[in-house]
Amino acid sequence: MRVIRVDPERFRDEEIEPAADIIRLGGLVAFPTETVYGLGADALNERAVRRIFEAKGRPSDNPLIVHVSSIEEVYRIAKPNRIAEKLMEEFFPGPLTLVMEKREAVPEVTTGGLRTVAVRMPNHRVALKLIELSGTPIAAPSANKSGKPSPTRAEHVMEDFESEVECVIDAGRTEVGLESTVVDTTVYPIEILRPGAITREMLEELFEVRVAEKSDVARSPGMKYRHYSPEADTVVIVGEKRREEIKRLALRLAGEGRTVGVAAMNGKEFKSVVPHVYDLGASLEEFAERLFDALRTLDRFCDVIVVEGVEQKGIGLAIMNRLSKAGRVYRV
Ligand code: TXA
Ligand code: MG
Repeated sequence: MRVIRVDPERFRDEEIEPAADIIRLGGLVAFPTETVYGLGADALNERAVRRIFEAKGRPSDNPLIVHVSSIEEVYRIAKPNRIAEKLMEEFFPGPLTLVMEKREAVPEVTTGGLRTVAVRMPNHRVALKLIELSGTPIAAPSANKSGKPSPTRAEHVMEDFESEVECVIDAGRTEVGLESTVVDTTVYPIEILRPGAITREMLEELFEVRVAEKSDVARSPGMKYRHYSPEADTVVIVGEKRREEIKRLALRLAGEGRTVGVAAMNGKEFKSVVPHVYDLGASLEEFAERLFDALRTLDRFCDVIVVEGVEQKGIGLAIMNRLSKAGRVYRV
């Protein structure tokens, strides 16, 4: 895998050009966005898109997000209604994906056979430049093997893939750290299929919103698959007494001879209890940004991971959505 290192604040087009060439030739390029790293291919090239599914080990009925570099480009692949237009105006570019009616140009492999297409304009200069130079919309799931936590650094991409991915553009850590909010705009109330950094509260300022439940699996094929799971047993503790419970549980498991890792906010407090502590910071934003790296890092050293849960408000809804897929959640 070729690695192109760039400074996201100041890079030249020539640095991105070789990656754009690979996309145009039907190859795979992993690239940074503000949410997580994506594994990109020409969204309109069936063979290229098939290679994404093969490389990830992704079931073919789980559709991909198509990334564009401008709002005009959306109209070449989708038919936005008034709701989608308003959401684009407010939140594009940004961590929001809109499910809309698709146009002919988008092959069925890209949308997993659906008549809708999910579209997003990432708020990252490197991603936008790559799409622009490639001259085509880019289909990109998160650049991890299916089932693994999403990649928030180029190193995570390199852990999961070898020669099946031609190139990774390394622009450092991703800012948001959780995948985009996915919203179905073809129904009303609009429906959050996957929570993210564009929160339910933000969307409710504009429209009536429903949050899809696990029982709504058919609405977003991605919901039915196992996700984000470390190899280690992962336990999530929520509720008022969670921090005391994390300590108690960590000590008990360590006493049973398990190698325990703790991921928690203000993690210092746990350093006297267990050797492997990943500090999730002091705000929900930091928590989100660090979560996937915490899971990947602790998974290397530990056979059980205890994670502090959060309230399901704001970006907390997205954090708990990912944690409930990574492990078992206990309320104390
Ligand atoms: O932040 C992100 O969204 C990242 C970066 C790379 O942009 N991408 C990402 O893609 O997370 P992926 O493939 O890991 O997740 C796409 C989600 C899946 O849950 C999928 O089922 C859903 O979007 N999806 C895609 N197209 C859809 C459609 N037409 N209808 C309903 N859900 C769709
Ligand atoms: Mg994914």
